Amino acid sequence: MTTLLVLHGPNLNLLGTREPEIYGALTLADINQNLKEAASAHDMETYSIQSNHEGALIDALQEAATKADGVIFNPAGYTHTSVALRDTVAAIGIPVVEVHLSNVYAREEFRHKSLLSAVCAGKISGFGWISYKLALEALVEIIERE
Ligand code: DQA
Repeated sequence: MTTLLVLHGPNLNLLGTREPEIYGALTLADINQNLKEAASAHDMETYSIQSNHEGALIDALQEAATKADGVIFNPAGYTHTSVALRDTVAAIGIPVVEVHLSNVYAREEFRHKSLLSAVCAGKISGFGWISYKLALEALVEIIERE
Protein backbone atom coordinates (compact mmCIF):
# COMPACT_ATOMS: atom_id res chain seq x y z
CA MET A 1 0.00 0.00 0.00
CA THR A 2 1.17 3.54 -0.68
CA THR A 3 2.46 5.07 2.55
CA LEU A 4 3.02 8.72 3.38
CA LEU A 5 5.01 10.14 6.27
CA VAL A 6 3.48 13.23 7.89
CA LEU A 7 6.40 14.94 9.59
CA HIS A 8 6.03 17.86 11.98
CA GLY A 9 8.86 20.01 13.30
CA PRO A 10 9.43 21.93 16.52
CA ASN A 11 6.60 23.36 18.62
CA LEU A 12 3.88 21.78 16.48
CA ASN A 13 3.16 19.45 19.41
CA LEU A 14 1.66 22.59 21.00
CA LEU A 15 -0.98 23.11 18.30
CA GLY A 16 -4.37 23.87 19.79
CA THR A 17 -2.91 26.15 22.45
CA ARG A 18 0.03 27.71 20.56
CA GLU A 19 -0.96 31.13 19.13
CA PRO A 20 -4.34 29.80 17.90
CA GLU A 21 -5.04 33.07 16.07
CA ILE A 22 -2.11 32.16 13.78
CA TYR A 23 -2.08 28.37 13.80
CA GLY A 24 -5.74 27.49 14.42
CA ALA A 25 -7.58 25.50 17.07
CA LEU A 26 -6.91 21.96 15.90
CA THR A 27 -4.43 19.83 17.81
CA LEU A 28 -1.72 17.82 16.13
CA ALA A 29 -3.71 14.65 16.88
CA ASP A 30 -6.74 16.17 15.08
CA ILE A 31 -4.63 16.98 12.02
CA ASN A 32 -3.03 13.53 11.95
CA GLN A 33 -6.44 11.87 12.22
CA ASN A 34 -7.93 14.04 9.45
CA LEU A 35 -5.02 13.14 7.18
CA LYS A 36 -5.34 9.45 7.95
CA GLU A 37 -8.99 9.63 6.84
CA ALA A 38 -8.17 11.69 3.72
CA ALA A 39 -5.43 9.19 2.77
CA SER A 40 -7.67 6.16 3.21
CA ALA A 41 -10.08 7.62 0.63
CA HIS A 42 -7.15 7.20 -1.82
CA ASP A 43 -6.28 3.71 -0.50
CA MET A 44 -3.19 5.18 1.10
CA GLU A 45 -1.94 5.08 4.66
CA THR A 46 -0.12 7.68 6.73
CA TYR A 47 2.10 7.58 9.76
CA SER A 48 2.94 10.72 11.70
CA ILE A 49 6.03 11.84 13.58
CA GLN A 50 6.64 15.10 15.47
CA SER A 51 9.96 16.14 16.93
CA ASN A 52 11.46 19.25 18.43
CA HIS A 53 14.93 17.97 17.48
CA GLU A 54 16.62 18.51 14.13
CA GLY A 55 18.50 15.18 14.25
CA ALA A 56 15.31 13.22 14.95
CA LEU A 57 13.66 14.88 11.93
CA ILE A 58 16.67 13.90 9.80
CA ASP A 59 16.42 10.30 11.05
CA ALA A 60 12.69 10.22 10.23
CA LEU A 61 13.33 11.49 6.68
CA GLN A 62 16.15 9.00 6.09
CA GLU A 63 13.98 6.16 7.35
CA ALA A 64 11.10 7.33 5.12
CA ALA A 65 13.29 6.66 2.08
CA THR A 66 12.77 2.92 2.69
CA LYS A 67 9.37 3.00 4.42
CA ALA A 68 7.32 5.63 2.59
CA ASP A 69 6.44 6.81 -0.91
CA GLY A 70 6.27 10.51 -0.06
CA VAL A 71 6.45 13.00 2.79
CA ILE A 72 4.24 15.87 3.93
CA PHE A 73 6.68 18.01 5.92
CA ASN A 74 6.14 21.05 8.11
CA PRO A 75 9.71 21.91 9.17
CA ALA A 76 8.35 24.77 11.34
CA GLY A 77 11.16 27.04 12.62
CA TYR A 78 13.84 24.87 10.97
CA THR A 79 12.43 25.92 7.57
CA HIS A 80 14.31 29.17 7.87
CA THR A 81 17.60 27.85 9.28
CA SER A 82 18.40 24.23 8.49
CA VAL A 83 20.95 23.34 5.83
CA ALA A 84 21.03 19.82 7.30
CA LEU A 85 17.30 19.22 6.70
CA ARG A 86 17.60 20.59 3.18
CA ASP A 87 20.46 18.17 2.49
CA THR A 88 18.36 15.26 3.78
CA VAL A 89 15.34 16.16 1.64
CA ALA A 90 17.66 16.41 -1.39
CA ALA A 91 19.20 13.01 -0.58
CA ILE A 92 16.23 10.73 0.06
CA GLY A 93 14.81 10.40 -3.45
CA ILE A 94 11.10 10.45 -2.58
CA PRO A 95 8.84 13.48 -3.09
CA VAL A 96 8.54 15.87 -0.15
CA VAL A 97 5.89 18.61 -0.02
CA GLU A 98 6.67 21.51 2.33
CA VAL A 99 3.66 22.79 4.27
CA HIS A 100 2.93 25.67 6.61
CA LEU A 101 -0.26 26.38 8.49
CA SER A 102 0.26 30.14 8.36
CA ASN A 103 0.93 32.30 5.30
CA VAL A 104 4.63 32.79 5.94
CA TYR A 105 4.77 35.63 3.36
CA ALA A 106 2.28 37.70 5.38
CA ARG A 107 4.50 37.44 8.46
CA GLU A 108 7.97 38.56 9.57
CA GLU A 109 10.58 38.81 6.83
CA PHE A 110 12.75 36.05 8.32
CA ARG A 111 9.90 33.63 7.58
CA HIS A 112 9.90 34.52 3.87
CA LYS A 113 13.05 32.51 3.27
CA SER A 114 12.94 28.72 3.20
CA LEU A 115 16.13 26.72 2.86
CA LEU A 116 14.04 23.68 1.91
CA SER A 117 11.65 24.86 -0.82
CA ALA A 118 14.10 24.44 -3.69
CA VAL A 119 14.58 20.74 -2.97
CA CYS A 120 10.89 19.99 -2.29
CA ALA A 121 8.37 18.95 -4.94
CA GLY A 122 6.36 22.04 -3.96
CA LYS A 123 5.19 24.15 -1.08
CA ILE A 124 1.76 25.00 0.39
CA SER A 125 1.38 27.78 2.93
CA GLY A 126 -1.44 29.70 4.57
CA PHE A 127 -4.48 27.42 4.66
CA GLY A 128 -4.30 26.15 8.22
CA TRP A 129 -4.59 22.35 8.46
CA ILE A 130 -5.94 22.34 4.89
CA SER A 131 -2.34 23.04 3.78
CA TYR A 132 -1.59 19.46 4.83
CA LYS A 133 -4.66 18.13 3.02
CA LEU A 134 -3.66 19.94 -0.19
CA ALA A 135 -0.16 18.49 0.15
CA LEU A 136 -1.68 15.03 0.39
CA GLU A 137 -3.70 15.66 -2.79
CA ALA A 138 -0.51 16.82 -4.54
CA LEU A 139 1.39 13.72 -3.44
CA VAL A 140 -1.43 11.47 -4.69
CA GLU A 141 -1.01 13.03 -8.15
CA ILE A 142 2.81 12.92 -8.06
CA ILE A 143 2.97 9.29 -6.91
CA GLU A 144 0.31 8.10 -9.36
CA ARG A 145 2.19 9.85 -12.19
CA GLU A 146 5.48 8.08 -11.29
C1 DQA B 1 5.11 27.31 10.46
C2 DQA B 1 5.70 28.68 10.10
C3 DQA B 1 7.08 28.84 10.69
O1 DQA B 1 7.62 30.11 10.34
C4 DQA B 1 7.04 28.73 12.20
O2 DQA B 1 8.34 28.80 12.73
C5 DQA B 1 6.32 27.53 12.67
C6 DQA B 1 5.13 27.07 11.95
C7 DQA B 1 3.65 27.16 9.99
O3 DQA B 1 3.17 26.04 9.95
O4 DQA B 1 2.98 28.16 9.71
O5 DQA B 1 6.67 26.95 13.70
O6 DQA B 1 5.88 26.29 9.81
